[in-house]
Amino acid sequence: MQKDKENKLDFPKSFLWGASVSAHQVEGGNHNQWTVWELESAKNKAKQAKAELGMLDNWAEIRGQAEDPENYVSGDLADHYNRYLEDFDFIERMNLNAFRFSVEWSRVEPEEGCWNLEVIKHYKDYTNELRRRGIEPIVTLFHFTLPVWFSDMGGFERRSNVKLFTRFAKKIIRELGSSVRFIVTLNEPEIYAIKSYHSGGWPPGLNDNIKFWRVLNNLAYAHRQVAREIHKLGRRYKVSISKNSKYYYAGDDALLSKISAVFMQYIQDDYFTKKVIKHCDFLGVNYYFTSRIYGYRTHNPNDDLSDIGWDLQPGDIQLVLERLYKKYNLPIIITENGIADSNDAKRRWWISQTISGIHKAIRNGAKVDGYLHWSLMDNFEWAYGKWPKFGLVEIDYETGGRKLRPSGAWYGKLIGKIRKV
Ligand code: BGC
Repeated sequence: MQKDKENKLDFPKSFLWGASVSAHQVEGGNHNQWTVWELESAKNKAKQAKAELGMLDNWAEIRGQAEDPENYVSGDLADHYNRYLEDFDFIERMNLNAFRFSVEWSRVEPEEGCWNLEVIKHYKDYTNELRRRGIEPIVTLFHFTLPVWFSDMGGFERRSNVKLFTRFAKKIIRELGSSVRFIVTLNEPEIYAIKSYHSGGWPPGLNDNIKFWRVLNNLAYAHRQVAREIHKLGRRYKVSISKNSKYYYAGDDALLSKISAVFMQYIQDDYFTKKVIKHCDFLGVNYYFTSRIYGYRTHNPNDDLSDIGWDLQPGDIQLVLERLYKKYNLPIIITENGIADSNDAKRRWWISQTISGIHKAIRNGAKVDGYLHWSLMDNFEWAYGKWPKFGLVEIDYETGGRKLRPSGAWYGKLIGKIRKV
């Protein structure tokens, strides 16, 4: 970002500048429905890698990892569960004042109704440490992983199971007490329902549209229940979901393209949100891409792609923010946004375009209260496994070594200037 532009980036003093992670993607050593699935599916995924990823430009570069079953088993990862203090040092080094993470339910309640007090103490120490360093903790309660016992009883397929998630939510928030304020109940509920119950690429690997709708509606119900309970604990808590949003636009003047783009935007942004918005104090938004629609299909320009083949249109975040703010009139926190870029060649550009987009949205009247980059560190990218690199901090999985990427150092400097710290 050029100097004169940087100087004009005036954000409110209270703006939350941060980074995000989720427990299963960085902690290592978990035992949940994902770890079971990883072990069952790793060999097959390695075998199918070429068919699924062979079209990527970087196939030659990633082939070794993508065809290795180990890639699909999370294992120890960055061992963030034990090494979080070192990781918090990077947050401080980058002048950030917010951090989003998730509490791993399977650790807190490894068997139904049995609370692991050591684990609860761990998460209390964790949030207190963030506070001590002046970093606002933003805690997520469901980021795609479930205890095995809960998934064995049907998980969110059954409405009667929701009370168990609510009980966990109440327990952990009561324990974390005043160390947290911002709570994300569910991360990208629709993505979870689609991948796990419609397209079948995530556990439990189903292609069952009845269950898909059931899970989606039960997740909305779960948010409402949890939000109610948390608000009973105190109105100081600010609750939301993290809503996946991309920007849809018509690629030509055909009426069908225009209608499809509007319709797809509605289905994506509003179908689920409408079911929970009355129980949200802010709106968490995850933005990664845009879809250009011809007829009723997506045909992106694909001039510039990330390592996992996502079309890169960072500036369109502006349009997503403006639309969502206009529609829901709630303050927005960008709870995720980032790029898979193992060579760190495009991340700086991505962030700079994104921050300009946010700035423009604010100038146009949207109330945006925070930006959390995905991700603080390299992590387990679900069905892709370990090869995609989203981190501001690079992790060497062999040695556990950590290194701030040049884009991370640049982001830190920029935020230091904006926050004047
Ligand atoms: C998820 C993250 C994921 C990221 C990049 C989001 O959909 O919340 O867990 O790592 O996208 O794919």
